[in-house]
Amino acid sequence: MTTWTQPELSSLIDRLFAEADAAEAGGARAAAHAPEDYRQYYARLKDRPLSVTPATGKLLYMLARAVRARSIVEFGTSFGISTLHLAAALRDNGGGRLIGSEFEPSKIARARSNLAAAGLSDLVEIRDGDALHTLARDLPDTIDFVLLDGAKTLYLPILALLEDRLRSGALIVADNTDASPDYVARVRSVANGYVSVPFADDVELSMRLGAAAAR
Ligand SMILES: C[S@@+](CC[C@H](N)C(=O)[O-])C[C@H]1O[C@@H](n2cnc3c(N)ncnc32)[C@H](O)[C@@H]1O
Repeated sequence: MTTWTQPELSSLIDRLFAEADAAEAGGARAAAHAPEDYRQYYARLKDRPLSVTPATGKLLYMLARAVRARSIVEFGTSFGISTLHLAAALRDNGGGRLIGSEFEPSKIARARSNLAAAGLSDLVEIRDGDALHTLARDLPDTIDFVLLDGAKTLYLPILALLEDRLRSGALIVADNTDASPDYVARVRSVANGYVSVPFADDVELSMRLGAAAAR
């Protein structure tokens, strides 16, 4: 029996996605926004989960399992729906650590409560504050998997914080990259040490190549 197949986890995930659907119904989707106003933008959306889709959630679990991720960094935790998928993958990979990031305190509380309900809290640290600061320190030496799902205009600076620690073959999933053309340009250039493809609904999947290719 895997964590993924435990009925408690699937029913929690199903319920959270149903609530996310209801919360988003009629609301404008998260959109591109200027770098200087992202804090205000997300403060207005603090009661909305803004989660990945169920298909992307499954994909996160599958990809994190496939690369046997033990060390995951998530930019943009919100209510922790994506985090549940990634933490379940860590558990099913035999353990590890996920560092999340979120600056809305009420969202951090909800994410922690969801992780506790799934019995996954021991694998996850959610850093409180702007990820530009919280992900700039105390990172694991090696990162196997990254989810970029915070302010779209920060994907490139957040990648820069993590890049040196990405192991060869590390995967990066970036959601809503239509709003991050500078990020897409970086990861689609093999000269920068990545191989990358767009897929599904506005998601970019990238792999870090070996260090030699990156130089
Ligand atoms: C799209 S939602 C994340 C959804 C989550 N990944 C999921 O699928 O369940 C983006 C979240 O990132 C947070 N966020 C955006 N920019 C951030 C930043 N610079 N630092 C910390 N949190 C940030 C927002 O408050 C919001 O909750």
